[in-house]
Amino acid sequence: MNKSAFKIRLMEAEDFAAVTRIDEKVLKVARPEYYRLKFEELVQSPERLPTSLVAETQDGTLVGFIMGELFIGQYGISQEATLDTIGVDPDFQHQGVGRQLLQEFLDHLKALGARKIKTLVDSQDTRLTHFFQANRFAPSKTVNLEYSL
Ligand SMILES: CC(C)(COP(=O)(O)OP(=O)(O)OC[C@H]1O[C@@H](n2cnc3c(N)ncnc32)[C@H](O)[C@@H]1OP(=O)(O)O)[C@@H](O)C(=O)NCCC(=O)NCCS
Repeated sequence: MNKSAFKIRLMEAEDFAAVTRIDEKVLKVARPEYYRLKFEELVQSPERLPTSLVAETQDGTLVGFIMGELFIGQYGISQEATLDTIGVDPDFQHQGVGRQLLQEFLDHLKALGARKIKTLVDSQDTRLTHFFQANRFAPSKTVNLEYSL
């Protein structure tokens, strides 16, 4: 898609193992069940347009991914999309992979008709918050409420 050292392409069902491996490397916890459901929902569902992307090196090693959702309902394509998760292999961070994934994700969604992208970030996660703010995401006017049981 551009002349960077990394290629961005749509995520495919075969990327499951590489995506879960990167997520485990980033979070230090394995979440195969979560990703199994996410792949069914986002990569294989006919009710959603394919929006999730992966970044790979020129030799085809997967080094990052971004997963999101754009719903097609009875009134057509929703104008609001969500960004569920982004992850870059720690060995490849700080080389612009995250920014490139995010930019191509936003361009792709804009071309599909989305007008707003929402994402949730833990307010304690200063690094991720900083990444999104550096990439022109701003706090929304919605307040996220919760109730402890
Ligand atoms: C947030 C995250 C996606 C960023 O990925 P990344 O590939 O490192 O992002 P970028 O390289 O585009 O930008 C990160 C920093 O590297 C810098 N950078 C980019 N290219 C660079 C280069 N060639 N040389 C040096 N620094 C560079 C950027 O300026 C940025 O600096 P900043 O932090 O001061 O703003 C990554 O750190 C990650 O996966 N974090 C964990 C995410 C997570 O918790 N996900 C699960 C829940 S959503």
